[in-house]
Amino acid sequence: VKAHRDISPGFGGPALKAYLNAKTAKVNAFLDSYLPEETRAPETLHRAMRYSVFAGGKRIRPIFTVAGAEAVGGCEDRVIPLAAAIELIHAYSLIHDDLPALDDDDYRRGRLSSHKVFGEAIAILAGDALLTKAFELLADRRHFDGVDPALLLDVAKQVGHTAGSTCMVGGQVVDLESEGKEVDLPLLEYIHVNKTGNLIVTSVTSGARLCGANAGHLRRLTRYGECVGLMFQITDDILDVEGARDAMGKEAGADQIRGKATFPGLLGVSESRERAAELTERAIESLQDFGREADPLRALAAYLRDRDR
Ligand code: FPP
Ligand code: MG
Repeated sequence: VKAHRDISPGFGGPALKAYLNAKTAKVNAFLDSYLPEETRAPETLHRAMRYSVFAGGKRIRPIFTVAGAEAVGGCEDRVIPLAAAIELIHAYSLIHDDLPALDDDDYRRGRLSSHKVFGEAIAILAGDALLTKAFELLADRRHFDGVDPALLLDVAKQVGHTAGSTCMVGGQVVDLESEGKEVDLPLLEYIHVNKTGNLIVTSVTSGARLCGANAGHLRRLTRYGECVGLMFQITDDILDVEGARDAMGKEAGADQIRGKATFPGLLGVSESRERAAELTERAIESLQDFGREADPLRALAAYLRDRDR
């Protein structure tokens, strides 16, 4: 039965745009009310935390969290704090990724990176504080009214695992250690699955879990997240080769200059595009058994394949 294989005509470009804007506004409002004010001491630290959290990120991960919840019949209000916690982790990871000891990037999304504005020490500490804040939030029952505490604890564990040494941080280490070396396709996929893919899988599935997803739902959503996560990275690499500076907020070609292995580097741009298209199809196929509630996830997959930043 392939009734729900295609994105419904009712959820095309304008509807998705409205959806993205609405969810982004919710997440931003929560983050704004949750993070310490810039006037709160130590002011430099709180300014640095807010500088990176409100720096024009696409909020893709929190939107996945909400869309994952909705796909299993849940509602956004239950998962906004979880979605925000995941964005805090993402924000921390980008601050640290840009540091001189890591990628040494002066720009992020068209603005100076954190260490360029606040200095290296504060950038490191702002990252630490954002990561810590994410788990303080997840452990705060006031934000998870009606959620079974044992389930919340297990979701927090999943998020921690995803951010940790065998997933995101581990992927980052292998990425660093592979710079300037010969990297084959399996290793490149390993790096990206761990650096980026797992957090996307967790974004989708953790929201669904808080809204009562069963094992079957989670299997399909995991598959969706895996396909979309890898596709997201392939398009990221393609954009680094071909992207316009204005849309990307930084110079294209950074990966090549740094001697980083990329999908276009290994497969060429056109085969990379084909793989991204295939993964998008597979992502959408894994949602076959879901109803119209999963349309945002279906539309998001296509949107991310076609993105320009
Ligand atoms: C761009 O996301 C970011 C990625 C594709 C993630 C890359 C992963 C890392 C840098 C891991 C870093 C880990 C450590 C431990 C330092 P995006 O396009 O969603 O960014 P946006 O928020 O600007 O939209
Ligand atoms: Mg980087």
